[in-house]
Amino acid sequence: MESYDLLVVNGLVVTASDIGHYDIAIKGEKIALLAPKGSLTEIAAKRVIDAEGGYVMPGGVDAHVHLDEPQLFGKGKSADDYETGTRSAICGGTTTVITFAPQSKGNTSLFSALQRTHVKAHQNCYTDYSFHLLISSPTPNVLSEFSALREQGISSLKIYMTYEALQLRDDQILDVLLEARRNGITTLIHAENGDILAWMTEQLEARGLYAPKYHATSRPQIVEAEATNRAIALSSIIDTSILIVHVSSPSAAANIRHAQTKGLPIWAETCPQYLLLTRSDLDKPGFEGAKCVCSPPPREGSKDHEAIWRGLANGTFTILSSDHCPFVYNDGERGKKSVLSEEFPEGRFRYIPNGCPGVETRLPLVLCEGKKRLGLSKFVEVTSTNAAKLYGLYPKKGALLAGLSDADLCIWYPEGTLKGLTIKNGQLHHNVDYTPYEGREVGNWPRWTILRGKVQWARDEGGVVGEKGFGEFVMRGASRMAGGERKGDWEVSAF
Ligand code: URP
Ligand code: ZN
Ligand code: ZN
Repeated sequence: MESYDLLVVNGLVVTASDIGHYDIAIKGEKIALLAPKGSLTEIAAKRVIDAEGGYVMPGGVDAHVHLDEPQLFGKGKSADDYETGTRSAICGGTTTVITFAPQSKGNTSLFSALQRTHVKAHQNCYTDYSFHLLISSPTPNVLSEFSALREQGISSLKIYMTYEALQLRDDQILDVLLEARRNGITTLIHAENGDILAWMTEQLEARGLYAPKYHATSRPQIVEAEATNRAIALSSIIDTSILIVHVSSPSAAANIRHAQTKGLPIWAETCPQYLLLTRSDLDKPGFEGAKCVCSPPPREGSKDHEAIWRGLANGTFTILSSDHCPFVYNDGERGKKSVLSEEFPEGRFRYIPNGCPGVETRLPLVLCEGKKRLGLSKFVEVTSTNAAKLYGLYPKKGALLAGLSDADLCIWYPEGTLKGLTIKNGQLHHNVDYTPYEGREVGNWPRWTILRGKVQWARDEGGVVGEKGFGEFVMRGASRMAGGERKGDWEVSAF
């Protein structure tokens, strides 16, 4: 009789396309069998995990994670490296992360950026991983590297419409999109109008308004909606697919929806912070508001959250990522608090490092509400399967297809057995001294996380039981989402 390495039995298996009582047999690193509950009792396996009725899902794919990046802002340094960031991810049910490989300033090679980032990640990861190239200077030399990047398994890149050191002009964005189209690369765009928000910042400071809450004032929804519209216009000139990252505002979402209904290949991402935080979180006393400073900012209130949930349910948002951006709060020159001084006792919001940690809390924070609002299969789709399809990882990742998919699983506790569980930063595994979600109740938590057949996280049996270095770089192919087929050269004559 054939023997297997691991059986996962008695689970409610949830994928993007099915929910049912199945048992799973794993051989080596792959899903070998998915069979009706109880039908694998006779087969031999080295280990059996009894899920006791808990959900068994494909491991989470978090396609927006910042780890060990050089300083983007005047102050603040990434607190998580590849070891601590992926450790945190695996404890929260995520088995694959896509991080960023940032180009150094100037006309510098994307290959050296890729190489540098490989060195940081190699033998340090608890999850599998890949990188988006982050491009700040799209010179002809840099653009000429795109085709070779594809051979290195990189099929996506990110560009910015804001941040002084990173902001591209429209003509530069067109250059990037054209070369991306030629090479079947998906372009991620941070869509905020950098000129407007810089001007708004000057206006606020001229009036003596420096506190963290003015970060949100400097970036009203129109700043995001305008840039989103412009990104869509630029992509429609080139007729190539883009993904608008970390969308927070209903008006930007409406622009995206409008483009999608016209058939344009526009994808979008949102994050838990835009379902859970509001601008009033930036106004917490004692500079605590700085903990929630991110860009785009959290919006006004529950009406905005409702619109973002609706966008997840109706497909406006393709993926839900964490945008884990690990700046510490209280750590000398590195922390968010470092912007406080005698001269500026409320700090200066323009210098607060932007971003919130969240790679570990992404799935638990959204499961309970997501189950009601989206249904379980849609939850899996936006937190795992769609990211795998969009970024060329499917069906190796994001699915449980026998013989095809890696044995990456997130196994939850049976519903109702973790009543009263609240998030406490002391129990998280990142290297950040806070979570924006301290004290928030979550109804469930990943009990086991399995990467390529190996248990990496066992909450009741020692916590992190896997080894760093088991996580591998995953070569990625072209996007599997509709619209990704728009590639090849582009003709001015089309206009
Ligand atoms: O505030 C944010 N989102 N910080 C992270 C950097 C980025 O733009 O994704
Ligand atoms: Zn961004
Ligand atoms: Zn980000």
